[in-house]
Amino acid sequence: MLILSSIALAVFAISPASASITCLKVGAAATARWTNAADQNCTWTGIVGSNFGIDPVNMGNYACNGRCGADCTGAALGNVYTQDCFSHDICSFFNNAAGGASDPNCGGAFDAAVDDTAFGFAYGCSQTNPTNPVVAPTIMPACG
Ligand SMILES: *[C@@H]1O[C@H](CO)[C@@H](O)[C@H](O)[C@H]1NC(C)=O
Repeated sequence: MLILSSIALAVFAISPASASITCLKVGAAATARWTNAADQNCTWTGIVGSNFGIDPVNMGNYACNGRCGADCTGAALGNVYTQDCFSHDICSFFNNAAGGASDPNCGGAFDAAVDDTAFGFAYGCSQTNPTNPVVAPTIMPACG
């Protein structure tokens, strides 16, 4: 759900050498992690590339979870799937996030995903987008 406008900033602010990027495999399980507004550590485990459909609150399209960029087709450098982009997507869906870095629950996860969005393609994290049907998650994140 990152927006391309933040990429341009990141390209100037972060060099690849200082980037922290972990590629994820589409179809594999991964654990999203973030710190919420109450300073709790939250986790949620699910499938990279899963499709939650439209968030009825923020109207975001949560297809291709873990892709750096909105849904499966939003502006991005390649179709990059990373740990930080997965964590941000999952946080964003469950918290109906809005405002990117300023979101009280997911702003930290957003910040962590900026370098992934800028340099994930160069790191070799780009893959073919899956075409998964919409399946709403049945488990909630664990926060504590
Ligand atoms: C969250 O995780 C951090 C880093 O592992 C830890 O220092 C902190 O105490 C944890 N917070 C809670 C509320 O458990």
